[in-house]
Amino acid sequence: MLMKMPANLIRIGKNFATLNVWKQRVYDEAVVKHKGKEYRIWNPRKSKLCAALHKGLKFLPLDKGTKVLYLGIASGTTASHISDIVGKEGVIYGVEFSPRALRDLMLICKKRKNIAPILGDARLPYTYANLVEEVDVIYEDVAQPDQVEILKRNAKAFLKKNGWIMMAVKARSIDVSRKPREIFRDCRKELEEMFEIKAELRLEPFEKDHAFFVGRMK
Ligand SMILES: C[S@@+](CC[C@H](N)C(=O)[O-])C[C@H]1O[C@@H](n2cnc3c(N)ncnc32)[C@H](O)[C@@H]1O
Repeated sequence: MLMKMPANLIRIGKNFATLNVWKQRVYDEAVVKHKGKEYRIWNPRKSKLCAALHKGLKFLPLDKGTKVLYLGIASGTTASHISDIVGKEGVIYGVEFSPRALRDLMLICKKRKNIAPILGDARLPYTYANLVEEVDVIYEDVAQPDQVEILKRNAKAFLKKNGWIMMAVKARSIDVSRKPREIFRDCRKELEEMFEIKAELRLEPFEKDHAFFVGRMK
């Protein structure tokens, strides 16, 4: 159960759904009417953040007006729901190094005016420093062996004091030969040097050998 439900996120039965602020469907998700407003059903098999919500995440540091730096935004599946939650007052700076994925993202950004797509390498925050302001939250899903280091580098550059981080980790992207449990333990240790960890969840059955961390800058 979430400590605080953002204004644009609701539960409809077992599902989570976000207010369709931008009147746009993104990945063939279902839409439903609730109290006269349209909501997009959020699919936990297509979004690790939604999987974390289904697994009982208590801390979701997003609401109307939140400023987010999203590392590994890809074509925007998860980002589209965050874009609904932060609404017209919020912003998402979305960094992605695959031109193909960014091209697809650009299509949804035509309507979703609160997503600023950035073609860049998240390992090199100084290369996009002129495009990003100080943010409330960094969301990272880059599936890279050095992803904790990448997150810390971006937090130093852009995260406000006491800002939040959310990070999805795929064990196989870090080391195929080690047990996921050991990999997640090491990730946590590395994260704890800079962040107070508020939540650590495994994402099965939605994603195999994935963990999700939420933390706060110390
Ligand atoms: C697992 S996918 C992200 C899926 C997306 N977060 C979602 O839920 O809709 C990982 C993405 O991170 C991108 N990526 C990996 N390393 C990166 C880096 N160093 N800089 C920017 N993007 C990176 C990949 O190109 C890929 O699109």
